[in-house]
Amino acid sequence: MRTPLIAANWKMNKTGSEAEDFINSFSPMVKDCAGVDVLIAPPFTALSSLSALLGSDSNIKLAAQNVFYEEKGAYTGEISVQMLMSAGCSYVILGHSERRQFFFDTDESVNKKIKISLKNGLKAVLCIGESLKERDGNKTFHVLEKQLAGSLKGIGLDEITIAYEPIWAIGTGKTATPEQANEVHVFIRKWLKDYGEGSDNVRILYGGSVTPENIGTLIAKPEIDGALVGGASLKPDSFAKIVTGAIK
Ligand code: PGA
Repeated sequence: MRTPLIAANWKMNKTGSEAEDFINSFSPMVKDCAGVDVLIAPPFTALSSLSALLGSDSNIKLAAQNVFYEEKGAYTGEISVQMLMSAGCSYVILGHSERRQFFFDTDESVNKKIKISLKNGLKAVLCIGESLKERDGNKTFHVLEKQLAGSLKGIGLDEITIAYEPIWAIGTGKTATPEQANEVHVFIRKWLKDYGEGSDNVRILYGGSVTPENIGTLIAKPEIDGALVGGASLKPDSFAKIVTGAIK
């Protein structure tokens, strides 16, 4: 059985001290939570201090929200896998729809980013999802298939997590119904199985307006292995409720 994973995507929120305040309240709330893995993706500037605060045996792991696909060099403004790992990250979120929309990430650049991450020991959470126009035009599966094939080209499935995030559900308060999400997760699971070995171990998270109120019905679906949470991950008590609500 796959252990559920609940991941917080803080996006461009929280200074270093705000991030530390969050952890000081949140850690005790989930310290005895067995049966669920917890991941937090703060801004880059908070990674080192949170890593020091959490310590190495914490049940809360850290993720970055992006990485560049070169090892190092003249790439002003970018950040490398090695920098992230030395700041305490064990995961990186890649291909988020906001990165695709505002920062021109493509399946091809995401593919390169996943490759360099895995090569150096950083696990990847690959985000995929369709727009409302694509869903209304019955193109959801086609779009997802293209994103999966392009982003995972030449990559083994060990150390990969998929986050299905319908763009129309992100930050809108419109969650996909558990049935809608599960239907897509079943499709992704089948695609992964046809794609390569180890697909049974790949966790498929749902993301898009997840809250303490709806996590229970989402996680009850057999193919939903957790959640990637934006807005509701910014407050310790609401994120803790989502974590505890995800224990299967
Ligand atoms: P949301 O964001 O929970 O605020 O909808 C999810 C995400 O973008 O990962």
